[in-house]
Amino acid sequence: MNDDSSVTSGQVKKYLQVNHMISLIAPPFRALAKAMPGKTLTLLDAGCGNSYLSLAFAFLAREAMQNPSTQIRDWQGAQFALQVIGIDTNAQVIEQSKARAAALGLSDVMSFQCCSLADAVLPERLHAVMALHACDTATDDALALGIRRQADMLAVAPCCQAELAQFFKTLPPQSNHDLGVIFSSPNLRRDAAATFTDALRLAMMRALGYETTATEFIPSTHTPKNRLILGERRGRFSKPGLDEYLRLRAAIGSPTLALERALHDVMRERFPNVELP
Ligand SMILES: C[S@@+](CC[C@H](N)C(=O)[O-])C[C@H]1O[C@@H](n2cnc3c(N)ncnc32)[C@H](O)[C@@H]1O
Repeated sequence: MNDDSSVTSGQVKKYLQVNHMISLIAPPFRALAKAMPGKTLTLLDAGCGNSYLSLAFAFLAREAMQNPSTQIRDWQGAQFALQVIGIDTNAQVIEQSKARAAALGLSDVMSFQCCSLADAVLPERLHAVMALHACDTATDDALALGIRRQADMLAVAPCCQAELAQFFKTLPPQSNHDLGVIFSSPNLRRDAAATFTDALRLAMMRALGYETTATEFIPSTHTPKNRLILGERRGRFSKPGLDEYLRLRAAIGSPTLALERALHDVMRERFPNVELP
């Protein structure tokens, strides 16, 4: 923001994205806080970039906690402490994020690591994982991390998803696949690949115990990357969820995507009697 609290035109889109995303992740996070009174809840921002999302979320949570008679609607009754961890491979944005956290007086609740998600040093238990436009398969790395560490809440807005579109491209046209008309058109292929990738993510999350939704969190005029996948942990696993995953996977040519590779051992452990691909 500028000194007069106006938002520079170039930043308006990000401002709206962050605001909308917070309005959608706050309710499940609050429910979590109320279910675990007095706990320190750990929130991971995967591919945090400039950390606008987690800075705003930490600021909101702190305001809600510091003013028990809060005017911030719906936070009454939630008593928790927050620890936010931001991870990004880009050293410059990590330094900026640290400086912003310090300027907002949030250094005690926020920490940052400059590394890939695979190399991050994290607590065994994460309560929530979010990723706003983490590049390509970094969304899958974030989901896999959260699922492995039993995160109660997963919130990802996927970015560019090239992996499945590349796979569709390799399917030979003569294979007469039922979806061949989609695979052979670059535009349809890209769109369908993004949708199928997210559908597989939802099904995998369901299989591994999450209740899931996919919603448009911001109008597509702001960004075409406007789908928010939200997961809330309800159980250990779901066989119908796995069946859904395997059926969809088979229907689109049996790709083995990043999330499946990252969670193969977890799937095997959860479904020892199922023959997995
Ligand atoms: C498009 S930016 C989004 C940043 C921020 N979440 C936002 O919405 O403003 C994606 C960020 O993910 C980071 N990133 C990509 N792959 C990563 C990985 N495997 N581990 C950690 N960070 C990653 C990039 O460095 C980049 O800052």
